Amino acid sequence: MKEILDAILNPDSTSADFAGLALPESYRAVTLHKDEEQMFAGQASRDKDPRKSLHLDEVPLPELGPGEALVAVMASSVNYNTVWSSIYEPVSTFGFLERYGRLSPLTKRHDLPYHVLGSDLAGVVLRTGAGVNAWKPGDEVVAHCLSVELESPDGHNDTMMDPEQRIWGFETNFGGLAQIALVKTNQLLPKPKHLTWEEAASPGLVNSTAYRQLVSQNGAGMKQGDNVLIWGASGGLGSYATQYALAGGATPICVVSSEAKADICRAMGAEAIIDRSAEGYRFWKDDNNQDPREWKRLGGKIREFTGGEDVDIVFEHPGRETFGASVYVTRKGGTIVTCASTSGFMHQYDNRYLWMSLKRIVGSHFANYREAFEANRLVAKGKIHPTLSKVYTLEETGQAALDVHHNKHQGKVGVLCLAPQEGLGVRDAELREKHLPAINRFRNI
Ligand SMILES: NC(=O)c1ccc[n+]([C@@H]2O[C@H](COP(=O)([O-])OP(=O)(O)OC[C@H]3O[C@@H](n4cnc5c(N)ncnc54)[C@H](OP(=O)(O)O)[C@@H]3O)[C@@H](O)[C@H]2O)c1
Repeated sequence: MKEILDAILNPDSTSADFAGLALPESYRAVTLHKDEEQMFAGQASRDKDPRKSLHLDEVPLPELGPGEALVAVMASSVNYNTVWSSIYEPVSTFGFLERYGRLSPLTKRHDLPYHVLGSDLAGVVLRTGAGVNAWKPGDEVVAHCLSVELESPDGHNDTMMDPEQRIWGFETNFGGLAQIALVKTNQLLPKPKHLTWEEAASPGLVNSTAYRQLVSQNGAGMKQGDNVLIWGASGGLGSYATQYALAGGATPICVVSSEAKADICRAMGAEAIIDRSAEGYRFWKDDNNQDPREWKRLGGKIREFTGGEDVDIVFEHPGRETFGASVYVTRKGGTIVTCASTSGFMHQYDNRYLWMSLKRIVGSHFANYREAFEANRLVAKGKIHPTLSKVYTLEETGQAALDVHHNKHQGKVGVLCLAPQEGLGVRDAELREKHLPAINRFRNI
């Protein structure tokens, strides 16, 4: 591993140098253990502690298949799917690996008694498999997390429609929270040159998801002038949705739960901010009944910011807790676009407000390769910025996941993998200098 790191840190290393490096037989990785699937049985979600389920193990290097790459991972990040995996909710991810393993002898590699997690990475290509022409050893890359087989016609208009669509490092093995990762090369994207490894590793999953959900025609297709209600506007997804709304000439109405988070939204350029804790919204009277007066109170608050207008789009992901309110506050003909149900997936809303006002609910999930490319391109051009707030070591991944689980974090949380320290990997210092305050917005809190 030392030779690999030395080659990455040496600015004179060539592609041939990387191709000539011997690969280690094993590497360090953050794993779940299949024989611990039941470890949290009977506990409340909040009490399930990722520090207990996430291990740092030495695991064998997987065999490289056609169309794949082994990547030396300098940095990765914690996504909410790391939290779901680590608390074995809503299901154990080992079921995903077993199902994938039944597809072919090659996918059988993924079905192991351990699961290497992680759906983001920034690093350097070490080896490419048969049939790969677009990437070579030594390329500095980030990876998006869409894994597809594309053997069916269904995915050829939009790869998210592939029946064998999976999220790498969640529904597949050999993820990015490790010293080395295995990816398909159609997951690779050029690393934004003005960012450090840990900054570059942080946008991937959430940035691509927010791009499809809000901007793409496959999602809400946001346009200039739209009012966009963004739940969790300083969180992983929301911090990108807020940036997209601002960069696209829309007006974000940011919902957050503290004054510190409101300050971050202001730092991004948002003006309309609702502190849901200070307002004390209680959309549910009890476990089964919502309170429409509270929906109305939220709608009234939104109108104070918009001069009486309702929102064109709601950027939804909290789910059960907020969905009834989201459907209510959307304007006639508007769109509720959802990609998650953090607070519960059995939603309840008053359908009269949907059909009588011709609203649409749109489901959105991650992004296809082109959408992930567009989202990464905007980061590389300095138009959308990383929202990295804190960086942990690979050993500390459990703590990092706990922070996200308990909503103690801001924006994104990074993890150093092979990178010995923060701040390395910048290749375009001039572009970085130009955007430094924006890059550090989430750090200064
Ligand atoms: N389908 C996909 O492709 C995809 C991709 C990425 C993420 N996701 C899912 O989307 C969800 C959010 O991910 P994330 O990375 O943005 O997580 P995150 O960093 O934890 O941010 C979510 C934010 O939502 C707000 N929130 C949480 N519970 C809420 C509630 N009950 N009511 C109102 N607001 C609430 C919180 O902000 P405040 O406390 O400030 O309000 C929180 O910071 C997760 O369930 C994740 O698995 C799905």
